[in-house]
Amino acid sequence: MKSLIHKYIQEIQDTHIESFKDRAAEVEAFRIRFLGKKGLIADMFEQFKSLPPDQKKEMGQLLNQLKTVAQARIEEFKSFVEPLEEQSVHHDLTRPADFVPMGSRHVLSVVMNEITEIFSRIGFTVAESVEIEDDWHLFSALNFPPDHPARDMQDTFFVEKEEGKQEVALRTHTSSVQVRVMEHSQPPIRIIAPGRVFRNEAISARAHCIFHQVEALYVDEKVSFSDLKQTLLYFAKEMFGEQTQIRLRPSYFPFTEPSAEMDISCNICGGHGCNICKGTGWLEILGCGMVDPNVLESCGIDSKKYSGFALGMGVERMAMLKYQIRDLRLYFENDLRFLSQFDNIV
Ligand code: DAH
Repeated sequence: MKSLIHKYIQEIQDTHIESFKDRAAEVEAFRIRFLGKKGLIADMFEQFKSLPPDQKKEMGQLLNQLKTVAQARIEEFKSFVEPLEEQSVHHDLTRPADFVPMGSRHVLSVVMNEITEIFSRIGFTVAESVEIEDDWHLFSALNFPPDHPARDMQDTFFVEKEEGKQEVALRTHTSSVQVRVMEHSQPPIRIIAPGRVFRNEAISARAHCIFHQVEALYVDEKVSFSDLKQTLLYFAKEMFGEQTQIRLRPSYFPFTEPSAEMDISCNICGGHGCNICKGTGWLEILGCGMVDPNVLESCGIDSKKYSGFALGMGVERMAMLKYQIRDLRLYFENDLRFLSQFDNIV
């Protein structure tokens, strides 16, 4: 028995991990052979019981030595094999990739980008400006009379409104960007201004206190109403399809003269009348007009030499018409069931 123990100790010490081909399985087999319940060492401990008492001390020590050597060796093998095992799981290049759900662009961004893109194709560049504006850029330079209702607290969120102080408000429309641009540049000016606007409205399916607009402004020599009409027709066809027709109705805005509102033929019923267009066959889309000479002069542009047109539209309304969204609040609630319906459009 003594020589057997020595033989095993020697064998264990001579065994190297490199000799295992299928490492994890062979280490386990090695463990079972020596340390398993019915392994060699257990077997020897059985035999040990029936040894004559005078041999027990020496054999006991030897056996324990064998057991310790076996355990240490197996621990050593395992610490070598286990990290490799883990690595091979993580680095298996043949495994299918984990599914990573991709976010999607918000439908308002999609529509805003589309409008911007349509105008950029005919030479308009994007202009952006501040969301907190002063009275001059929001109203005065845009020819709003002092008593215009838009200057009222009921419509506008004032940040500061104190006697004798400069009035500062969240911008109520992107028309303020027209002023910002014209103040700092001379014609030809051809800009598109997409952005967020704020109005003091009760939130409902049809109104919200935050929404988005896109404004366009073109100022140059001899810009005429027919330039405006042609641009509007081009835009309507690009946005809603080649078959789209437009009509202009006279309107009023302080900063344009003449002013108009543009309708498009209903893209749902093709102009026959449905509940979206309330049976009229037409959908109201945007406000527009020729820039009032007073506005040009306020911004330091010679109104005798230059003329221009401007137009402004609500992005939420565009998206509503394009995708038949019935409730404005959906845009702002971040409900994934709503948002994910647009994850195939870019
Ligand atoms: N600023 C207007 C609004 O918020 C929209 C508008 C109308 C913009 C006519 C324009 C325009 O540039 O010419 O209701």
